[in-house]
Amino acid sequence: MASVTSALGPPRVVNIEDLRRLAQRRLPRSVFDYLDGGAEDESTLRENPRAFNDVLFRPRNAVAFDKCDLGANVLGHNLAFPAILAPVGYSRMMHPQGELAAARAAGDAGTVYALSTISGHKLENVKAATKGSAWYQLYLLGGRAAAEAGIDRARRAGYSALVFTIDTPVAGMRERDPRNGMKQMLGSSVFAKLPFLPNILAHPRWLAAFLADGGMPKLENIVIPGQGPMQLIDVSAALADAAVCWDDLKWIRKVWPGPIIVKGILTGEDARRAVDEGAAAVVVSNHGGRQLDSVYPTIRALPEVVAAVNGRTEILMDGGIRRGADIVKAICLGARAVLIGRAYAYGMAAAGYPGIMRALEILRADVERTLRLLGCPSISALDTSYIDAPQHWRK
Ligand code: FNR
Repeated sequence: MASVTSALGPPRVVNIEDLRRLAQRRLPRSVFDYLDGGAEDESTLRENPRAFNDVLFRPRNAVAFDKCDLGANVLGHNLAFPAILAPVGYSRMMHPQGELAAARAAGDAGTVYALSTISGHKLENVKAATKGSAWYQLYLLGGRAAAEAGIDRARRAGYSALVFTIDTPVAGMRERDPRNGMKQMLGSSVFAKLPFLPNILAHPRWLAAFLADGGMPKLENIVIPGQGPMQLIDVSAALADAAVCWDDLKWIRKVWPGPIIVKGILTGEDARRAVDEGAAAVVVSNHGGRQLDSVYPTIRALPEVVAAVNGRTEILMDGGIRRGADIVKAICLGARAVLIGRAYAYGMAAAGYPGIMRALEILRADVERTLRLLGCPSISALDTSYIDAPQHWRK
């Protein structure tokens, strides 16, 4: 992996939390809180990273090996590193390069980028920006006709899998957003924006880049027949009309010939249903604590899903991953690889492409160090014998 500029190296940036602090400094409060925040009391947001502490390592010491193999195989892709970049909506508001930078960084790091439906850049341009594989995450925003057009474009552009997110029948109540005037900022009324302008003006670096990029981007991948690309402002309302159900997988299967990954699984029951519906993989996810609050932290939900699936499909997980040790723990508990959301998005918001590369470099070094300290030579050799997880997590 290429090394990054010294401004993003130590002592300024040693871990993901350091990138978070830089993102907080660069972004206006409304944009930072959109990225950083969670639903309601944010208890799931806090529990996702905390629950990794309940998993303890059982190292094998006095084990020496030269090479440490960080490779993993997911849906036939050979990943150089077992962390995939999760779909993060509105990335172009965090940084003008947004989704383009994330796709490029994923390819350069030898992993996959999953592009959100809620993207400010055209999916064709995002695919062209990466030398690796990309997945397209589907919301039914704008209705079936708009979704089918998006799926068709994703197929022609060479996306290799469709990620079907099932945990967003409505947008979660992220209380920081209304307090920060997120809706007013996206709207057209200048008066409504006035109370929030001082904070925006206090972030001139972000503002200059945002204005130079043309201001509020449209949602280029949600093209409403007869109307053109959807405006950003419409998203919350449109999400409420875009609830998905298992039956939707039937028509999606007709228009998408490739693998379908079901994202947003938290129970054994839903995992079995996804397998029965033909999911090529499931993502154990609570949307990073942004949807229903007070659900299982994902690392705690993982063992139940692993037991229910019983090897019939591939299992990925996301939520709360801030260190390579978290990735290793998830793999020990049965995930093939993880998705990371905020961990790379903080880097993206702080510095665009170099910031994402720095996040990936930190996590990669963490994973290799953790494997060596565990006395385990490869990702593929990890299993439950390397950890001690609470018994009651296994249903
Ligand atoms: C998300 N996530 C998400 N998921 C999805 O399927 N479609 C989307 O458009 C978005 N958008 C989005 C925006 C932001 C700002 C965040 C932080 C997250 C959820 C994302 O894919 C992933 O599940 C979580 O981010 C994982 O948790 P961590 O890694 O952020 O703790």
